[in-house]
Amino acid sequence: MKNIILLILIAVPLLATAQNNNGLSNNKKCISMKAINTLEFPQLPYSTDALEPFIDQQTVEIHYGKHQKAYFDNFLAAVKGTDAENLTILEVFKNISKYPAAVKNNGGGFYNHVIYWESIKPNSGKPSAKLAEAINKKFGSLDELKKQFSDAGKTRFGSGWAWLSVDEKGELFVSSTANQESPLMDVAEKQGTPILAMDVWEHAYYLKYQNRRPDYIESFWQIINWDVVSSKYEALVK
Ligand SMILES: [Fe+2]
Repeated sequence: MKNIILLILIAVPLLATAQNNNGLSNNKKCISMKAINTLEFPQLPYSTDALEPFIDQQTVEIHYGKHQKAYFDNFLAAVKGTDAENLTILEVFKNISKYPAAVKNNGGGFYNHVIYWESIKPNSGKPSAKLAEAINKKFGSLDELKKQFSDAGKTRFGSGWAWLSVDEKGELFVSSTANQESPLMDVAEKQGTPILAMDVWEHAYYLKYQNRRPDYIESFWQIINWDVVSSKYEALVK
């Protein structure tokens, strides 16, 4: 009986924590708050075939296991032995212009993908009431946000990202960055905290969609993890 009570005392808080994090593990939630030299390569929040048919398994396997893993390894190598290895990703990104290109390219390459995998999931859902209200206030409607966000991805020349972020005033904005830059970096045209990330590098879609980036973007909207996007928004504006 004592063992059962002990199990309940341990398990209930753990389950509650998992619920509060909307399925994100503590490891991933803390990535931006840990010293870089203590980071471990995070697990995907789902299996590699979970995003089918919108994003195929082979693309996820290569994108996560090869591309993101290489960025992670190269990022750690780029900061090794420098002061940056004892800082957090956010501390480095806000002064990224002072670091070598390898830190920006690989640090962004690693962390942008962390946000990307958190931004999507098999069953999309919808924005929370609070986020929906903010979207309507800023963009007029969810359809208009979708249009602006999709256009940001479609018109990014070459490789890069589309973002929905929150600025220092707590307002939503859509932007696009080139290569592996992000709104968290001081080189971004407009800085803020991303809550939704869409990768428009060809490696994100080419196996299934070839040159049809707009079709990939349309599919992306079928798998947005509105639970996570909403909870990130609400944490930033509370
Ligand atoms: Fe990517």
